[in-house]
Amino acid sequence: MNEKLNLILSNAKSDIAAATSVKELNDVKVKYQGKNGEVTKLMQGMRDIPKEDRPAFGKLVNDLRTAIDECYDAREVELKDLELQQTFLNEAVDVTLPSKKREVGSLHPLTLVKNELIDAFIGMGFEIFEGPEIEEDYYNFKMLNIPEDHPARDMQDTFYVNENILLRTQTSAGQVRVMLDKKPPIKILSPGKVYRSDDDASHSPMFHQMEGLVVDKNITLCDLKGTLDEFCKIMFGKDAKTRLRPSYFPFTEPSVEVDVSCSECHGKGCKLCKGTGWIEILGAGIVNKKVLEGCGIDSEVYSGYAFGMGIERIAILKYKIPDIRLFFENDVRFLKQFK
Ligand code: PHE
Repeated sequence: MNEKLNLILSNAKSDIAAATSVKELNDVKVKYQGKNGEVTKLMQGMRDIPKEDRPAFGKLVNDLRTAIDECYDAREVELKDLELQQTFLNEAVDVTLPSKKREVGSLHPLTLVKNELIDAFIGMGFEIFEGPEIEEDYYNFKMLNIPEDHPARDMQDTFYVNENILLRTQTSAGQVRVMLDKKPPIKILSPGKVYRSDDDASHSPMFHQMEGLVVDKNITLCDLKGTLDEFCKIMFGKDAKTRLRPSYFPFTEPSVEVDVSCSECHGKGCKLCKGTGWIEILGAGIVNKKVLEGCGIDSEVYSGYAFGMGIERIAILKYKIPDIRLFFENDVRFLKQFK
């Protein structure tokens, strides 16, 4: 009998030692001490043993069970520790790996140029006024001396919402609102989106304008020229020169087209300025007396100048961008270059 018990003990010890996980170890426990386990069966065999031998046999089986339990407990501690180490290894974080890069956005080139323009004019004492983009015909055309059937309407192909409401074609619409609202002196700058039914490499159905308006006593074309000279120096460098050419706008009289000397060839003539040495950048003029009077401003006492430019046009010239549509395609490779 002793031999049999010793054999069970040594088998159990090697099974325990061979278990490589807590789960396998548990299976070993079932094999020896479970309902049909080898040690359990020994206890069940007790009834076949002569009565007087039973206490001694019982003690032997109990010792065997204790011995197996001890081995089992020791191995369990070992295996739990190993498994914990393995978990630590599996979950280890390599702090030396490079981190995921977060893309940092940048201001849109049009916003950059708009801010630069605003800074230039704020430095000269202008205040910002932003009018509505959905505008009344009254402010966009009629009050600017462009009555219905006026040929100037053809120059600005308009998106109409209904007969009287439209998407503003020029930020000039906001000037009327300011003049109706405020007494001179007025010195404002209106940046914003405008809309015209036009679409090609140099025209977009939505684009941005920036308009300036100054109304005060004794305002002349000289004040306009001085302001725009200063502006062009800030925007295009201190060697930039300006020139005024006669033009026509219904809301200014006289009207001028303003050119800046070509920053590429400095007046010699090149591809950018089409050989002329000059680049047209904006329209301007002395506010038409009819417009002032319409807004309740006495044109015998006050006079004013206005100018309006396309922000895209300034950005195109400044950054030599070949196609206006690049501004609106949101291609990050394009936008990134202006950080
Ligand atoms: N509003 C004109 C345009 O969009 C530009 C302009 C503004 C001209 C102010 C003169 C004075 O074409």
